[in-house]
Amino acid sequence: MGLLAIIGGSGFTKLPGLVPIETLAIETPYGATSAPLIRGELGRGEVLFLPRHGTEHQIPPHCVNYRANLWALHAAGAERVIGLAAVGGITPLFAPRVLAVPDQLIDYTYGRAHTLYDGTSHRVEHIDFTEPYCEPLRQALIEAAASLDEPVVPRGTYGATQGPRLETAAEILRCEQDGCDMVGMTGMPEASLARELGLCYASLAFVVNWAAGKSGGIITMKEIEENLGLCVERVLLILKAVAARV
Ligand code: HPA
Repeated sequence: MGLLAIIGGSGFTKLPGLVPIETLAIETPYGATSAPLIRGELGRGEVLFLPRHGTEHQIPPHCVNYRANLWALHAAGAERVIGLAAVGGITPLFAPRVLAVPDQLIDYTYGRAHTLYDGTSHRVEHIDFTEPYCEPLRQALIEAAASLDEPVVPRGTYGATQGPRLETAAEILRCEQDGCDMVGMTGMPEASLARELGLCYASLAFVVNWAAGKSGGIITMKEIEENLGLCVERVLLILKAVAARV
């Protein structure tokens, strides 16, 4: 059966509790992955783990080799992928430390190598992306959280911005008017590349700050790190519960 992969973001360069079985350095047509993949046991399930920003959190969001990462996970036998995502909260439900499983996204990124159909493969395919996340995996995340009595917002539109800077208040207002509930820097092209590869992809987001202009003050790394620290344990418990389920 296909494996579950977890792509760790900020706060998850390691996956505490993961018992490694093997490390996989996979060569891809697109170059190097952010780090070697780790196949291991997480609770009662087996997973592949890949830290998106590298083992030292040294790769900024716009420099992540998303194509290599997703291609390698697929080559290693992944069928489902959970992308962890630290986000800024825009609309009232998405306050700091809230966990969410987004159901829609808007892509504001630019200049990223975002497709496998880049003109070199002599093939063009226009994937359907009406529902950008894989519903069965979204439901598995939501049910895993419910089984732990861990509240998650079971929906929400994720706005993917370019980074690495945070947004202006006006940019966040525009995101909000577009319908975004949360904002992060790595959700795209990760989600669409997963779809191009036929992978079932969902995201588990955790809010680490109010987005620009939503709190009356500026955004500090201190607040982001504090909130991140307060989300890690709950995210891990949900991941363990999902790994045992799928
Ligand atoms: N904006 C974009 N990405 C983020 C934010 C934010 O406010 N917080 C965490 N990732």
